[in-house]
Amino acid sequence: MNIIFLGAPGAGKGTQARKVSTEFSMIQLSTGDMLREARMSNTSTGNKVSSIMDSGELVTDEIVIALIEEKLSENHGKGFIFDGFPRTIGQAIALDRLLESKYIGLSAVVEIKVENKVLIDRITGRYTCQACGEVYHESSRPLETNRNCDVCGSNNLKKRADDNEVSLRTRLKEYNDKTEPLKEYYLDKEILYSVDGLKPIDAINAEINKILMKYL
Ligand code: AP5
Repeated sequence: MNIIFLGAPGAGKGTQARKVSTEFSMIQLSTGDMLREARMSNTSTGNKVSSIMDSGELVTDEIVIALIEEKLSENHGKGFIFDGFPRTIGQAIALDRLLESKYIGLSAVVEIKVENKVLIDRITGRYTCQACGEVYHESSRPLETNRNCDVCGSNNLKKRADDNEVSLRTRLKEYNDKTEPLKEYYLDKEILYSVDGLKPIDAINAEINKILMKYL
């Protein structure tokens, strides 16, 4: 089973992708995480995309497709969860070709729907464990302990550079202009599902699991 999580910035794609990857033993491929990793390790890709990511604009198709291609060739046997990819029609067509060349298909595209007005709170309240990637929120998913990650115990928890109101405005515009058309693309293929992203995290997870059980 290979699936895509689609949704605006802060909709909860990463949160759900982490849960589903554990529950169904799948590989989470987040292009956002890959690009942040490239920035941290000072690679030429990282240097090229740094200011684009901070501004909230999309990185070029060429760069993200190359990252995904590399990950697909490194991993076999398990299903993939595409988190934040594809984000343009060009990326969606490239993904179809890549999967076809490996004789695998897409099972489902799950859109997590959230109204724009809650996204600012989701984005400005988010912090992430730099050691294991667990995602928290100041009010909806706070740390159970005082300072350390509940999952791995690290005290290295940080906010993202692009998690501010100015960048979010650009990220939302990019989403509306370039990513929303993907819904039509996958609707035509009859693999698009929508879940209500305003529900509690575990309730959304249960709804997603119900959809995915059909493909096991
Ligand atoms: P990326 O890292 O993919 O960011 P994004 O799409 O903006 O999505 P986020 O990670 O911000 O949100 P999410 O939906 O994963 O929400 P989360 O689960 O964390 O991309 C960053 C940048 O990289 C892009 O702007 C672009 O420049 C570049 N890029 C990446 N991919 C690209 C591509 N394919 N093409 C071109 N450029 C690309 O949740 C958010 C918060 O809400 C958390 O604090 C969480 O705890 C909380 N939360 C989650 N669910 C709930 C809930 N149900 N109720 C209450 N709180 C919740």
